[in-house]
Amino acid sequence: MLVNTQFGYTEQDFEAIASLIYSRVGIAFRKNKRNLVYNRLVGRLRAHRLVNFTQYLKLLDDQNHEEWEYFVNALTTNLTYFFREPYHFDFLKNYVQEHLEHLTTSEPLRIWCSACSTGEEAYSIAMTMVEAFGTNQPPVKILATDLNTHVLAVAREGNYTTDQLERVSEQQKLQHFIYHKYKNTYEIRPEIKSLIHFKCLNLMDTQWPMKKSFNMIFCRNVMIYFNRETQSRLLTKFAHYLPQGSLLFLGHSESFSEPQDKFKPLRQTMYTRV
Ligand SMILES: C[S@@+](CC[C@H](N)C(=O)[O-])C[C@H]1O[C@@H](n2cnc3c(N)ncnc32)[C@H](O)[C@@H]1O
Repeated sequence: MLVNTQFGYTEQDFEAIASLIYSRVGIAFRKNKRNLVYNRLVGRLRAHRLVNFTQYLKLLDDQNHEEWEYFVNALTTNLTYFFREPYHFDFLKNYVQEHLEHLTTSEPLRIWCSACSTGEEAYSIAMTMVEAFGTNQPPVKILATDLNTHVLAVAREGNYTTDQLERVSEQQKLQHFIYHKYKNTYEIRPEIKSLIHFKCLNLMDTQWPMKKSFNMIFCRNVMIYFNRETQSRLLTKFAHYLPQGSLLFLGHSESFSEPQDKFKPLRQTMYTRV
């Protein structure tokens, strides 16, 4: 059945695309996303001067074809903003202040921001840490990962428009950003950037390259794109990287309902490893 006459987009094309993206990155597209998938990919067919989706899908038969990167980039949703779900950052600040003595004398805090998109979340964590520790060099190491290579490039650059800084206070703009008058943009200061290491990582990979565990993992607003089984597998993998007492932060609509023996709810979408 034809879903869209241009480029002969059929139900089978959609099913094939949904199956490919699910097996590579875990994103589960329901049938009501047929048009969204079409709109996200049509530019790729034009870029290759292809006349239909069958030809496009042929490119992806080769698991190592460079189109895979564009395909994945096109099908991920990257909405994010600074200090999204602000209660997590309030919690972080209080947590550091309550444990300040211990945290300043022990190993650096290791934080993993596991679906960082264009960087706002990782930078919000870093700014919170600078403020909570009261120094530009807090004992904190942040690993920020995503599988979309385009958003990672934006994140590394750390340059944002005034609109993107809507939730950043004037004081924070002064403290953590450099204003570029000629472009009317705000760039994250080097001392904040230096706290973060951006890397490409697919959460679906059977093995992750990190050797050490983390004190905190942020995995916010990505699990909603995965099905129950994938979510559960991911939580089990996170548990391996979180020693007892460490923390897991999920997105606002991602509280897991099934009983989990590895995590105890702490408060709103925050969990502690038991
Ligand atoms: C909606 S954004 C959320 C960004 C941020 N965590 C927040 O809460 O604002 C979801 C991000 O998850 C990433 N993503 C989706 N599937 C992924 C996977 N299998 N591995 C790593 N990142 C993934 C997307 O590329 C996207 O940048």
